[in-house]
Amino acid sequence: MAAMYLATPPTGGSLESLQPRGLNSRTVSLWRTWKRLSRCQRSICYMIITVLAVIVLYSYMMRDEAMRIPDLTQYDPKAPEMPLSAVLDDDTRQKKALNKVERVHNAIQVPVDEKQNMAQEAVDDYHGDDDDNEGVDAPEENGNDSNQAGEDKDDDDPHNGQQAKSLKFEGPQNERQKAVVEAFQHAWKGYRTYAWGHDHLRPISKSAQNWFGLGLTIVDSLDTMWIMNLQSEFREARDWVESTLDFGVNKDVNFFETTIRVLGGLLGAFHLSGDAMFVDKAKDLGDRLMGAFSSPTGIPYSDVNLRSSRGHVPQWSSDSSTSEVSTIQLEFRDLSRCTGINTYEDAAENVSKKIHDLPKTEGLVPIFINANTGKFRAQSTITLGARGDSYYEYLLKQWIQTGKTQEYLKQDYVTSIQGMNHRLAKRTVPNNLLYFGEILSGGRSFKPKMDELTCFLPGTLALGVHNGLSKDHLVIAEELAYTCYLTFARQPTHLAAEITYFNSDSASQMDFYVKSNDAHYLLRPETIEGLYYLYYFTGNTTYQDWGWKIFQGIEKYTKVRNGYTTIGNVKNAVDIRPKDMMESYFLGETLKYLYLLFADRHEIDLDRWVFNTEAHPLPIRSY
Ligand SMILES: *[C@@H]1O[C@H](CO)[C@@H](O)[C@H](O)[C@H]1NC(C)=O
Ligand SMILES: *[C@@H]1O[C@H](CO)[C@@H](O)[C@H](O)[C@H]1NC(C)=O
Ligand SMILES: *[C@@H]1O[C@H](CO)[C@@H](O)[C@H](O)[C@H]1NC(C)=O
Repeated sequence: MAAMYLATPPTGGSLESLQPRGLNSRTVSLWRTWKRLSRCQRSICYMIITVLAVIVLYSYMMRDEAMRIPDLTQYDPKAPEMPLSAVLDDDTRQKKALNKVERVHNAIQVPVDEKQNMAQEAVDDYHGDDDDNEGVDAPEENGNDSNQAGEDKDDDDPHNGQQAKSLKFEGPQNERQKAVVEAFQHAWKGYRTYAWGHDHLRPISKSAQNWFGLGLTIVDSLDTMWIMNLQSEFREARDWVESTLDFGVNKDVNFFETTIRVLGGLLGAFHLSGDAMFVDKAKDLGDRLMGAFSSPTGIPYSDVNLRSSRGHVPQWSSDSSTSEVSTIQLEFRDLSRCTGINTYEDAAENVSKKIHDLPKTEGLVPIFINANTGKFRAQSTITLGARGDSYYEYLLKQWIQTGKTQEYLKQDYVTSIQGMNHRLAKRTVPNNLLYFGEILSGGRSFKPKMDELTCFLPGTLALGVHNGLSKDHLVIAEELAYTCYLTFARQPTHLAAEITYFNSDSASQMDFYVKSNDAHYLLRPETIEGLYYLYYFTGNTTYQDWGWKIFQGIEKYTKVRNGYTTIGNVKNAVDIRPKDMMESYFLGETLKYLYLLFADRHEIDLDRWVFNTEAHPLPIRSY
């Protein structure tokens, strides 16, 4: 341990203290030797001594900082992600983040100069020492590149989680990734200039929009910035979260949106950066959101007041959306795993179990559920688009998140895919394109309509196949991804409409068409997300090329001077009707998935991480 020799060098300020004080003959002979050295040799000695002194001073400062914040004890020591870096202040945290690097899949290490190396060793030594005191294995520092963040090196070691973990990213690997980073920086600059701290940027009027008043764009962007290696931007956003983001506001928020964007964003930022400040914030928010579960059945109400933590039904209906109540489980489970407090996971998992017990149509669910009765609304629509979509996504992803330990989730997922094939899958005339339509009025009629949102499905299917489910699902995924891509590629803007109708009339030569009211593009990510998963698992670069085409459409038709905007009309390149709105998920999801899609070497290991429905990465556990 290097810390041993670091303890011995002179710490006194003046070098005069090295002079002999007429003590014994050994000291005198040392002094003679010193006198005989050349000026140059002595200078070298002085330099070595100075450097050692700085290192010692530095490691003592670190020790002091580490003592300041005692809060770690409130967390479950078993939570494998809790890092020591939690306790350091900004400066040291940054350095820590560079230190306890967990290697990304195939990533290359940035060269560091020697001085930095020495400083890092000093930090490592300190922590190795400290860890030993607590009976914790010293962190690996042998340059072994195979370990990754999110990995539980040894599930039986209860102290494992005390190690600082952060995931290191190297920045763009190629021109396409660079272009996406530039797009992100352009969006961020506009937001930072005109809407800082507000939910969304209105890039054309140079103003801000607030929905919940939680700085949604900042929280949604944190892990994207970390993945893109935008360190100073991340740091500024992180400091805003710590100093300014306040959940104690008297504000009714949508339970689901706040969970996936804010809770998910904080947890994703925590897991990548290793900064436990994010867990404190997530816990505060989670506690407030828990009020949504206070219905007689435990099915959450759609809205919750952040100050009073009181949940209630939406103004327009007494029902909650099925996808909303079933798309909170990854986040609440992870919050429990990070804090050691089980109630979050229990409350959310109870909802999944309740829905599991309800009668369904071949595994398919109606889009409304009543929080007071715990029943689906009879006769309501079945769709893989809005209000239905992520119910299916989270069946699979929960199963993966829990290390495939919860069989009922997998069963419900597999059954639902069969149901989709049987009840919702149709093909177009004339080109036989696959799409998934909707069932209305409890199954009495079929509507040949598909939301852009439904294009999440290829990605989910591909992820399932990678995790051992039927290869047939990959065929569906590839076919549906092609249809989704065409809904972009066949528009003159190269952007898809929110809703597309499909043709089964042999008199028509158009596979699909868009109604004027549905012709908007809201900067949505789902199709790109699907391409990312397909590229990841098949290695087929066609999916990258398709994504690049879509990105060109985004650059050409949604980019404005101060950011990016949703547009009202994808059907006419000279009449796009910009809507003056930049959604937080554009930075949190759309640009993140584009960046991940264009990687030559995968940035995130999908055997260790699962993305929530807002593209925030959460670790896969084995339980
Ligand atoms: C790193 O360690 C792992 C596990 O001990 C081992 O399997 C792997 O071969 C090592 N890799 C290198 C590059 O040393
Ligand atoms: C979950 O359901 C169980 C059994 O119905 C119940 O005992 C428990 O209190 C519920 N947990 C939460 C946090 O609501
Ligand atoms: C790549 O994917 C495209 C689109 O699905 C397909 O047409 C092509 O055959 C695939 N290429 C390979 C080498 O599999």
